[in-house]
Amino acid sequence: MGLQISPSILSADFANLQAEIDAVSNADWVHVDVMDNHFVPNLTLGVPVVESLVKVSQLPIDCHLMIEDPNRWAPHYAEIGAQSVTFHVEAARDARMCIKDIRAAGARVGMALKPGTDIEQYVDLLPELDMLLVMTVEPGFGGQSFMADMMPKVRRVRELVGDAPDSVWIQVDGGVSASTIEQCAEAGADVFVAGSAVFAADDPAAMVERLRSLANAACAHA
Ligand code: DX5
Ligand code: ZN
Repeated sequence: MGLQISPSILSADFANLQAEIDAVSNADWVHVDVMDNHFVPNLTLGVPVVESLVKVSQLPIDCHLMIEDPNRWAPHYAEIGAQSVTFHVEAARDARMCIKDIRAAGARVGMALKPGTDIEQYVDLLPELDMLLVMTVEPGFGGQSFMADMMPKVRRVRELVGDAPDSVWIQVDGGVSASTIEQCAEAGADVFVAGSAVFAADDPAAMVERLRSLANAACAHA
């Protein structure tokens, strides 16, 4: 699998989500941020909206759950058709069970780490995952500054998962833009979420291509 771009609709026009998704049809995924105002201090959308987005999107949905009790809720997002479901390990009662239940419901499984969460205590879960998300901002809001100090964590995860074609994907999310994506790719990330960089651009599809080519070039030099 090559490098992948997953635009976050958190920075899109919520009154026109279908049109906004269509505007980035050259991307690989559509990243949908679910926030419950408990795990993070912000509220976005939930199962009914994701279910509608699945129906109208030509791209697969990459659902990022910033919610409490993912053991209860995460499998629902897989059941309604999200092709990738990522939960925060900090919120899970039983991460291993959450992984199992999401996969049984038919989705790829991602596990997210907040900036303050170390990977070392979760190394034994890596083989169970399809994707590990290293947050490069505190989750909750779009448009925040990229935390370059998360790059050692990305490097460490790459070291742990290796670089075989079927290795666990490493996603970065938060502050990813044309000026920060190269360092993410060099550190070993292969799935890039970008919200404001894409949807605030005059031409979102052109920005997706620009991000993709910057990442590919940086990856080739890494
Ligand atoms: C933040 C969300 C991100 C957000 C990224 O908690 O998880 O997906 O949309 O937005 P930007 O790219 O603007 O930092
Ligand atoms: Zn996100």
